[in-house]
Amino acid sequence: MRKTLPTKGRGRDELMAELKALKGNDTDWQHGRAPLYVFRGIPGTYEIGRDAFVEYFTENALGAKRAFNSIKRMEDDVVGFGLDLFHAPEGAVGTFTTGGTESIFLAVKTCRDWSRRQRKDKQHRGNLVMPVTAHPAFDKAAQIMDLEVRRVPHGPDFRADPKAMEAAIDADTILLVGSAPNFSFGTIDPIAALGELAQKRGVWLHVDACVGGYVAPFVKKIGYPIPDFDFAVPGVMSISADLHKFGFCPKPASTVFYRDQDKHSAQAFVFEGWPNGRYATETFAGTRAGGGVAASWATMNFLGVEGYCETAKRLMAMRDGFVSAIESIPGLHIWGKPDLTIVAIGSNDVDIHRVAEELAGKGWLPGLLREPKALHMMMSLIHEDSRATYVADLKAAIATVKASSGEKAKIAVTY
Ligand SMILES: Cc1ncc(COP(=O)(O)O)c(C=O)c1O
Repeated sequence: MRKTLPTKGRGRDELMAELKALKGNDTDWQHGRAPLYVFRGIPGTYEIGRDAFVEYFTENALGAKRAFNSIKRMEDDVVGFGLDLFHAPEGAVGTFTTGGTESIFLAVKTCRDWSRRQRKDKQHRGNLVMPVTAHPAFDKAAQIMDLEVRRVPHGPDFRADPKAMEAAIDADTILLVGSAPNFSFGTIDPIAALGELAQKRGVWLHVDACVGGYVAPFVKKIGYPIPDFDFAVPGVMSISADLHKFGFCPKPASTVFYRDQDKHSAQAFVFEGWPNGRYATETFAGTRAGGGVAASWATMNFLGVEGYCETAKRLMAMRDGFVSAIESIPGLHIWGKPDLTIVAIGSNDVDIHRVAEELAGKGWLPGLLREPKALHMMMSLIHEDSRATYVADLKAAIATVKASSGEKAKIAVTY
């Protein structure tokens, strides 16, 4: 729809007031009513991220190697922190990216090109084998790169089923995917078993730790049983891990890592065929926000191991309290045993999607699963204060649905 740009520019105060007013129609995420999209850490985390972002508001990370040495230095630090956290061997390499989708896209592209190099077949059309719970970013990448995706059912524990994955592997399989955790159930896939499978069949294993990468190591440090999911597991060739989720850094910020330089070398794009000479990037994006890099660097340094552990303690206390509140409501259960703060709530005596409709009427943006039917949420400290109200509204919604005439849920299951 065409719209007319104002002829005369409008005043700053008026515009800022209008922006604030526009937000009035959004989901009230500040009060925990969005079950995904936004994240919050311990006090001070938000402010340091915001201020560092503004400090580098104009700088372009595309020019990190030529013009903005400071951005290059900060990217190296942030990537270095990730390599250390993920037990990377000597020679492992990483890249700062704009988000989980870009990190996954790059890992798939790098695996494709590296595999073609190994096979000495520049046209080889590989396939990717993954549990049905893997993120759609893999399909997006595969669609763009004309690769085949084979999604197989998860196991009864809502984790990847290595046997089912093995059955889907053939001579053209180039990549296996496991998640730490998957978005659907918040369960960490059996990465050790997938690593063994990858080694046995000579294929690349990618671990999608976009959600868990920057929180699971600290949840483990404070005493929760988190299985190995990183380069400590033989067979893991690459890892995606988002800073802008549970690293508590402002968007856009993610990282992708490779076990060795040889694999990483297949990631770069180098082009000479235009008047301006050599154009070389490691990322899919060209221009990138300098603010994203500076904010991640500042946030990680602000929190340090102690800050991340403190955040992990509060997150897990919230999760544990919430899970017991849900399990004490007759007829409700949690699907699987989530390892972090993603939970999927099912019911055996009420249509949980009808309950979601009632909750939506009370201002809660519903997160949903289609199969099995569930209410779905990915919680951070934004949700600490809102859990009690949520549980009360949930109980009331269940009572309303039980008292109603049993009409079918019409709510769309949408990410
Ligand atoms: C497990 C997992 N991987 C990848 C992504 C994609 O991340 P982004 O939305 O930053 O592209 C998400 C997003 O929620 C996710 O949950």
